[in-house]
Amino acid sequence: MALALLFLVLVSMFATSASQKQMNVSRGSALMPKTNSSWLSASGFYAFGFYQRGNGYGLGVFLAGIPLQTVVWTFKRDSPPFPSNATLQFTTDGRLILQSWLPGQFTDVAVPAESAISASMLDSGNFVLYDSNRGIIWQTFDSPTDSLLPGQNLSAGHQLVSSASESDQSSGVFRIKMQHDGNLVQYPVNSIDEPAYAYWSTETGGIGDNITLHMDGDGFLYLLNPAGQYVSNVTRKGLPSNNRMYLARIDVDGIFRLYSYDTIMKANWSIVWNSTGDLCSPKGICGLNMYCVTIDPKVSCVCLPGFAPVQEGNWMSGCERNFTQESCKRTGENADYTIQPIANTVWEDDSYSVQQLPTIEECQSTCLPDCNCAVVIYNNGVCKKQGLPLRFGRRDLANSNTVSIKLSTATSDVNAPKRIKKQIRIDILVVSVSLIALALIILVSLGVLVYRNRLSGHQMYLEHGVSIGSIEDVGPRLFTYEELKEVTKDFKDEIGKGAFGTVYKGALLNRRKVVAVKRLENISSDGDIEFQTEVKIIGRTHHRNLVCLLGYCQDGPNRLLVYEYMTNGSLADLLFTPERELHWDEKMGIAHDIARGLLYLHEECETQIIHCDIKPHNILIDKNGRAKISDFGLSKMLKPDQTKTMTRIRGTRGYVAPEWHKKRPVTVKADIYSFGIVLLEIICSRRSLDFCRSEDEAVLEEWVYGCFQAGELAKLVDSEEVETKQLERMVKIGLWCVLEEPSFRPSMRKVLLMLEGTVDIPVPPSPTSFLSST
Ligand SMILES: *[C@@H]1O[C@H](CO)[C@@H](O)[C@H](O)[C@H]1NC(C)=O
Ligand SMILES: *[C@@H]1O[C@H](CO)[C@@H](O)[C@H](O)[C@H]1NC(C)=O
Ligand SMILES: *[C@@H]1O[C@H](CO)[C@@H](O)[C@H](O)[C@H]1NC(C)=O
Ligand SMILES: *[C@@H]1O[C@H](CO)[C@@H](O)[C@H](O)[C@H]1NC(C)=O
Repeated sequence: MALALLFLVLVSMFATSASQKQMNVSRGSALMPKTNSSWLSASGFYAFGFYQRGNGYGLGVFLAGIPLQTVVWTFKRDSPPFPSNATLQFTTDGRLILQSWLPGQFTDVAVPAESAISASMLDSGNFVLYDSNRGIIWQTFDSPTDSLLPGQNLSAGHQLVSSASESDQSSGVFRIKMQHDGNLVQYPVNSIDEPAYAYWSTETGGIGDNITLHMDGDGFLYLLNPAGQYVSNVTRKGLPSNNRMYLARIDVDGIFRLYSYDTIMKANWSIVWNSTGDLCSPKGICGLNMYCVTIDPKVSCVCLPGFAPVQEGNWMSGCERNFTQESCKRTGENADYTIQPIANTVWEDDSYSVQQLPTIEECQSTCLPDCNCAVVIYNNGVCKKQGLPLRFGRRDLANSNTVSIKLSTATSDVNAPKRIKKQIRIDILVVSVSLIALALIILVSLGVLVYRNRLSGHQMYLEHGVSIGSIEDVGPRLFTYEELKEVTKDFKDEIGKGAFGTVYKGALLNRRKVVAVKRLENISSDGDIEFQTEVKIIGRTHHRNLVCLLGYCQDGPNRLLVYEYMTNGSLADLLFTPERELHWDEKMGIAHDIARGLLYLHEECETQIIHCDIKPHNILIDKNGRAKISDFGLSKMLKPDQTKTMTRIRGTRGYVAPEWHKKRPVTVKADIYSFGIVLLEIICSRRSLDFCRSEDEAVLEEWVYGCFQAGELAKLVDSEEVETKQLERMVKIGLWCVLEEPSFRPSMRKVLLMLEGTVDIPVPPSPTSFLSST
């Protein structure tokens, strides 16, 4: 996915370049960004020359012959982009020079020992200069930037440095080095070559000098010693090499990956191998006083409690304390500070004091009076005191470290929610902009379609002689109370009762179209305009997984909504009525339907709608077995005190997300929580709270987590035959959704990807584990 996006960016980057095939470049040739911008290899796959970079141009070797172009070598990656009047010259006296900023001022691109006779862009991706004997005297393969191609080596003492971003080839923050001791190691850029800073290696240290990393045409990466013997094989030998291109690269996120591209299928670059699958392992992915958490397939950086980002949206800037520590001389009393633990995190060990202490409490209490102590790290009887800043933090659920941070009680901010800041990078912005443009086009076309359908819908009403408001008003129809009284035969047939009111069956269009009429109770009566606004918003949402609002009534004190009628009742009926058993496939279909409906409400409709009351009673099933969400958009209309009652009724472990009880802002993540509970209910065909069961089974998510940890998932679906892999997948999704910390819950988009099996799902932590503090 990310990769596809990356290449989307790159494709647009190259769209304007003009190139020519010129296998033998002769003296006196020149390139300019806007006219003759590059020299192609014989196959046309590789090009040497100018490419779009930022608002100027870069000079380098790039893949030109495939739809998915990418830069594999860059000249002076850290200099600003070159202007459009830059000129690359292969001079008549055999030098390769770039005239960029000032006329008459030249930069040497290649400095060969003798003057070059000819040059060539080879099919291997190597751009070379030849002497008169056709010997190579200079080549781009000798100075790799972030990528290696088959036939290219990384010799001892050399390294690859990641790019700053997918669209900016300037130096990033990670490197992979072929060391003189024979070890191939990954480090952050700003660190010395010490094991303490390494985050991946071939573990071949001490094997001898002059070891070289090689790459073959089949993507085989291996280490060779000067005698030509295999020292270590990094990737597997024997991958297909016909019609395949391979590329190894240290990516922006610090992971060294091998990619392959099928030149026949022309599908996409696919990842064949990566140095580490743990996206949080690259040291320095987060700034100071932050720690890395994986929410597959992405990473996030989180500030320590009591800290705030130095620069919003920029992980690299790290976090700083949200209070100023007073001078050591004045304060010594413990009363001014508290200490707060965060479990399962690992940090760089930079301790100034190491003590053996039996308990974490004793460890913490040594920190309070010590004004140099900012944190203590406690693990298994060892208590280490450290000052700030903390580096290389990451959550590691397998590690029993607990880091405890000293906080000032003077600030009220101590208990504020931890912040998560997602880095907004320019490349993502570019992609988003193009995607939004695409989405807009689709929306406009859809809008036209919907509008047309609506018109025909209205015309249908007209044919049947029912009066309507106005054809221009594309929205739900306004009914009078008398009309609805007639439609429902004086509210005779009650079919349901919910938080918002009672639902009656009725019929429209000479009693041919069955509808459900909801008479709203408990809604704030003072806001007529508000009601209309909300109805308009609801009326504009059209999605196959949302119950369609056909009309409304606002007549005196009466507020009614007219919905399409759903023949098969609610999900609650299906799930909790023993006679009506759902098959696993039907269950999965329903889970997908709910997820799609919610995604639409959260991300795709004009006004974001937080449902606030997702539960099986609000999921209705139509005659085709398709699930649709109802009652969306209504929570806003409730009287303020009603909202509170609503949450109190449900109790702590119902469908309502924990943040409702904590006076924390309620976001779309509250719906994710409720969705998680419903998903677990669907999986297990039981209610989230069932006090008829034994104590450890009564609360659904706790029971599920227990069974998940114990590897006893079969217990959850006692009678049914379900494929273990699929069951595990669904349970994992449910558990991620019901995490107490809202920011750790996945978005609906992510949930849908996970349901579809498009992304891997990491092992979920215990629902409450992240929040020992709040
Ligand atoms: C390129 O030049 C060399 C030497 O001048 C020559 O042997 C070779 O055939 C030329 N290649 C092409 C494709 O013209
Ligand atoms: C490594 O290469 C250098 C330069 O070629 C040479 O001086 C040195 O002796 C070599 N070391 C070993 C262990 O082969
Ligand atoms: C590495 O690969 C080569 C070539 O396939 C093979 O001969 C060698 O035994 C392998 N070495 C190790 C340590 O696996
Ligand atoms: C701490 O953070 C809160 C909320 O972000 C802010 O209002 C307050 O000014 C900060 N306090 C200090 C001392 O920076």
